[in-house]
Amino acid sequence: MSVELTWLGHACWLVKSGEHKLLVDPFLNDNPSAKLRADDLDVDFILITHGHFDHVADAASIARRCNATIIANYEIATWFSEKHQVQQTLGMNIGGATKQAFGRVQMTLAFHSSQLPDGSYGGNPGGFVVETGLKRIYFAGDTALFGDMKLLGNKLLDAAIIPIGDLFTMGPEDSVQATQFLRPRVVLPSHYNTWPPIAQDAQAWAGIIRAQTPSQPLTPAVGEPVRI
Ligand code: NI
Ligand code: MN
Repeated sequence: MSVELTWLGHACWLVKSGEHKLLVDPFLNDNPSAKLRADDLDVDFILITHGHFDHVADAASIARRCNATIIANYEIATWFSEKHQVQQTLGMNIGGATKQAFGRVQMTLAFHSSQLPDGSYGGNPGGFVVETGLKRIYFAGDTALFGDMKLLGNKLLDAAIIPIGDLFTMGPEDSVQATQFLRPRVVLPSHYNTWPPIAQDAQAWAGIIRAQTPSQPLTPAVGEPVRI
């Protein structure tokens, strides 16, 4: 079985696995690098790594229209339920996992912040390890490099999606160390080229990953699906 991953721009990813479609960190209508609009998507689950605008922006409208389930930390799940009339939410916290129709998802550590756009407390930032279609995919979310990525490497990851934009998250240099810790079969860059302050050269990055890690870098353009 293969799973299809599509970068929708910034940190927004679409995962297609069998009959299921998962959307991670929807940020489309105000995202200068996105090609799709929020209304173009039809998904059944939405995963939110943390509360910042560039990760939650279009989640409520898509969830309400598609009757999708938002999976996030408890504080963010409650915020969508109480302030944005999202019917289906599932709150969790770091280290916990849940089995859902698409497979299993575990929330992982991230070193970042998580305030919601209206100033509400957004709990702790996180990442996700998604198991679906016999694949294990790590979405790091917005994070610095951290040593416990070595432990995630013990999970035998098929793919890791890691930020390389720098400034708000780890940059290209630390992402190489992160890839060495995570040891995924393939690694894909995220959270870059949305705005000039996080512009990065993905091809140069891929060359360094190839030279310094055993992982295969994949650098799809926005909207170009890859199968893993
Ligand atoms: Ni952020
Ligand atoms: Mn961000």
